[in-house]
Amino acid sequence: MSGFSKDALLAAAAALGVTFTAGLLLGRKCFMHESSLKTFKSHGGAKGDPLMDYVLQNSLREHPVLKKLRQRTLEDPMSAMMVACEQAQLMANLIKLIKAKNVIEIGVYTGYNTLTMALAIPADGKVIACDINLGFVKIGMPFWKEAGVEHKIDLQIQPAADTLDELLEAGKAKSFDFVFIDADKQNYSLYYEKCLQLIRKGGIIAIDNVLWDGLVLNPGNDPETLSIVKFNEKVYRDSRVNMSMITVGDGVTLAFKL
Ligand SMILES: C[S@@+](CC[C@H](N)C(=O)[O-])C[C@H]1O[C@@H](n2cnc3c(N)ncnc32)[C@H](O)[C@@H]1O
Ligand SMILES: *[C@@H]1O[C@H](CO)[C@@H](O)[C@H](O)[C@H]1NC(C)=O
Ligand SMILES: *[C@@H]1O[C@H](CO)[C@@H](O)[C@H](O)[C@H]1NC(C)=O
Repeated sequence: MSGFSKDALLAAAAALGVTFTAGLLLGRKCFMHESSLKTFKSHGGAKGDPLMDYVLQNSLREHPVLKKLRQRTLEDPMSAMMVACEQAQLMANLIKLIKAKNVIEIGVYTGYNTLTMALAIPADGKVIACDINLGFVKIGMPFWKEAGVEHKIDLQIQPAADTLDELLEAGKAKSFDFVFIDADKQNYSLYYEKCLQLIRKGGIIAIDNVLWDGLVLNPGNDPETLSIVKFNEKVYRDSRVNMSMITVGDGVTLAFKL
């Protein structure tokens, strides 16, 4: 990329309070293909996309601890995996709108969206936070504590499919209000099916990266892209939900259980 060092860009990002993705900073696609070159992820605005900057300047209402967590996450080499902040805010508004109390996050990473959800649910609400990598999550945990909501977060370090099965076995079908699916892409359909059982009528399943940086137009033989394409076709045809595909971040599908 241009003559800027990564550190100088990160410092500039921190100073502006507007963030850039590592994917863009490093000028390459990173692990899990999360990058923001074609789609709309806000922290991909290293070149300062003026309209995206305008959107953030005129809509982002970020809790101060969330801002700190976002800035800390940008120091991590995998930070391109972080959810777009304006997308997290949209989902928090949906959580409030449907008065969600029990929610699930599949794929926590440093927990930016986990914290957003924990702040949006009531005092007696719970976030079941699923990940297999405690190292990532540990980056975010001090911020959950600082925001005073760590008691609302139930962290499950094991394959998410196991956690969802345990919830079903414990009789928790139809007892969740909102789920965010943002982990391994090949298992999207599996997670979606289990979550349809776990959420109540009127509950929402949000699925991230449905545009996969535009690769859905040219999937080739890439197994992750092919599973996203197949998954998108499935949800479009699924009569069990109403749905919308939203061009925020890397694309998020919202499925509303009928
Ligand atoms: C894109 S990141 C999640 C970003 C996060 N939602 C946020 O708001 O910043 C994907 C995460 O899924 C986790 N993951 C990958 N495979 C998994 C699995 N089988 N079960 C649970 N988590 C998994 C990875 O460790 C990684 O932290
Ligand atoms: C998909 O889920 C299965 C069942 O938990 C797990 O064994 C597998 O590792 C997951 N795939 C990926 C790519 O994480
Ligand atoms: C939602 O789905 C139901 C059942 O298929 C359908 O009757 C209704 O028109 C849908 N609503 C929207 C807004 O698409």
